Amino acid sequence: MGGAPHTISVFGLGYVGCVTAACFSNRGHTVIGVDMNPAKVEALNSGRSTIIEAQIDDLVAGAYRACRLHATSDATRAVLESDVSFVCVGTPSRPNGRLDLSHIEHVCREIGQGLARKRSRHAVVIRSTILPGSTRAVVIPVLQAVSGKRAGADFAVCYNPEFMREGTAIADFREPPYTVLGAQDPADLTLLRELYDWVPGKVYETSLEVAEMVKYVSNAFHALKVAFANEMGTLAKQLGVDTDVVTRIFTSDTRLNISPAYLSPGFAFGGSCLPKDVRALNYKAKELDLRLPLLESLLPSNSQHIERAVEAILATKKRRIGVLGLSFKAGTDDLRESPQVQLIKRLLGEGCEVRVWDRYVSLGRIAGSNRQFIEETIPHIGQLLENRLEDALARAEVVVIGTSSVSRDELARCLRPEQTVIDLVNLDKSRRPAANEHYQGICW
Ligand SMILES: NC(=O)c1ccc[n+]([C@@H]2O[C@H](COP(=O)([O-])OP(=O)(O)OC[C@H]3O[C@@H](n4cnc5c(N)ncnc54)[C@H](O)[C@@H]3O)[C@@H](O)[C@H]2O)c1
Repeated sequence: MGGAPHTISVFGLGYVGCVTAACFSNRGHTVIGVDMNPAKVEALNSGRSTIIEAQIDDLVAGAYRACRLHATSDATRAVLESDVSFVCVGTPSRPNGRLDLSHIEHVCREIGQGLARKRSRHAVVIRSTILPGSTRAVVIPVLQAVSGKRAGADFAVCYNPEFMREGTAIADFREPPYTVLGAQDPADLTLLRELYDWVPGKVYETSLEVAEMVKYVSNAFHALKVAFANEMGTLAKQLGVDTDVVTRIFTSDTRLNISPAYLSPGFAFGGSCLPKDVRALNYKAKELDLRLPLLESLLPSNSQHIERAVEAILATKKRRIGVLGLSFKAGTDDLRESPQVQLIKRLLGEGCEVRVWDRYVSLGRIAGSNRQFIEETIPHIGQLLENRLEDALARAEVVVIGTSSVSRDELARCLRPEQTVIDLVNLDKSRRPAANEHYQGICW
């Protein structure tokens, strides 16, 4: 067990709460479960789990026999008798999809009443899934208003998302992929750090909002992967291709497929392959009368990202734009379906004066379908292209970084402090223009 045994109250005895209660009591802590549902309180008080889950019956029964696990509906007493309260109440959808925080608000009011009467320091740890900003905007204000005390100064508030999956929840609790501890001030994490000092895997200490967001990014990505696999399987089956073999080969690539590759926010995809191939799959699906909404959404999503860049540039209300990067990615002169080219075309249409520089693009050298594409898309591209970076930026009010092939020194030499810099490629922090207060990323 990590550190000294503590008394822990767990609010909400559903899947997350029951697993949290059982696992912490199994580690030698005393746990008080709290739920408004008398049947769940009664279950724990008889040594029975409130949920069906592998291994949990034995854990609950063992902790109950050792007098380390009981339940109550008296929230105030639970707060007074514990050092820390884990909040695991439900956060369902309202009919319109909006997140319903009413259970969170209710439980925070109850915990606040306990805090009002408490002499020793207490920590409130939210485990329920709540949108970024909710702990700061809802949890803390309610706790403060009801208790009459101040978060940080008088009690700690932390956010600790749960990554367990039903069916393997106990194993996931014991071996989480990582543990994320969010707080306004790292000092608020002292007790939580101690409670988790046994976990294998990395422990990340971060802000409340990052901790809240990591949970949603994880779940959205899991949903995306399931939908993607199902759509690809559907298409493969209709094409008479063995889905299992395709999946086995596809997932064996841990460099590009099952990897962090392509998962950093940046600019739109382009080039001679991805748009064309996604288009071909969509067309084939249509021919087969298949509806594959995820696959259909990829190109519109990509166009929307280019539009976001256009809007960010136009929002500066400045019209002289220097664009660094013309090809679809650094290190190539391939302009076919380059989102940078689409961006420049849109800016020209909006009446902007655009100068362009790309280390790898020289009109004299490009030929074939590449040349044909650029001449059809922006016929006077030759008049916009500059050979020297400084010439592209000389008159620019806004500098758009659309290539990672530009060094910190080059930027430092050519940028002026009054220029707005819009970064589309998520330049490494060490390469971003130092001390440029007008720097903005497109989605970071
Ligand atoms: N189920 C999962 O696998 C899972 C995994 C990770 C995160 N989460 C998140 O954790 C949260 C809880 O999920 P769950 O599946 O355990 O929910 P659940 O519906 O199974 O349990 C919620 C419990 O909270 C109780 N409750 C509601 N208001 C209360 C109050 N004021 N005081 C005390 N108890 C109260 C309910 O009676 C219920 O027993 C949600 O935000 C969910 O999104 C769930």
